[in-house]
Amino acid sequence: MKVIAMASSKGGVGKSTLAAALAVHAANDGNTVLLIDLDPQQSTRAWWSRAGGPTNPQLVGGVPLTSEAQKRIERFDIRADYLIVDLPGSMVQVIEDAVNAADAIALVSQASPKDLEGQAALEGIVDKLGRRVAVLYVLNRVDKRSKLGMEAQMLLASRSTRLPVSITESVSYVRADTSGKTAPEIDKAAAEEIAVLWKALKGIANDSREAEPANRLVQEPGGRAEAAKPEGRRGVRSDRLAKQGT
Ligand SMILES: Nc1ncnc2c1ncn2[C@@H]1O[C@H](COP(=O)(O)OP(=O)(O)OP(=O)(O)O)[C@@H](O)[C@H]1O
Ligand SMILES: [Mg+2]
Repeated sequence: MKVIAMASSKGGVGKSTLAAALAVHAANDGNTVLLIDLDPQQSTRAWWSRAGGPTNPQLVGGVPLTSEAQKRIERFDIRADYLIVDLPGSMVQVIEDAVNAADAIALVSQASPKDLEGQAALEGIVDKLGRRVAVLYVLNRVDKRSKLGMEAQMLLASRSTRLPVSITESVSYVRADTSGKTAPEIDKAAAEEIAVLWKALKGIANDSREAEPANRLVQEPGGRAEAAKPEGRRGVRSDRLAKQGT
């Protein structure tokens, strides 16, 4: 199972919105997907409930850390292809644990110099843990009529060799959420951009551990680098994982 973390140092940048959209897209793409909401605001849990509590993506509840979720999933012998982690904007211990566990980290920001500067704390954690290799910058709420998106891409050129992925500012993301849906389910343009984002994150998730120095892999035995074999679309029984506080 590959872990994909949605992270930012700033709140309100779209982590939860994109986590839900990616989870639904990945499930529709034939993967078994788990979703975990580590933000005390629990907005992803609320969205999942509005969506009718699907079994794919299945919510993992009652665990405060990504590493604990991984243990719980293993203990229940649940086979999933991806675990998508929605993180809070603060709470360093929760973020560090997720960054350490993640095979791919979406570093979500809005496209302004100030917003990008605001990611310094998270970038510090990423660098401390040697996880830069797993990072994809995601510029959210990009206004296509403005040059800010392009300027942000240029600013990021010195921080990453990967091209950032841009997601446009669209009312579909807001509207879909209120009815327990995600923007790609109601808007073709959103479906196209989330497909691009998923492809990029999936690519990193399936390569990043292998791209790291060998000593890191030796320090962390237990097969985190090995790929789970997709077995077509199937859900995970909801009562086993979704409960809070179990
Ligand atoms: N691409 C987008 N276009 C328009 N609105 C968006 C887009 N992405 C997110 N939003 C809106 O921005 C607001 C914040 O999004 P969201 O709650 O996903 O951010 P967050 O990073 O998870 O916030 P927090 O740090 O508080 O958990 C929401 O109202 C959401 O609907
Ligand atoms: Mg959130």
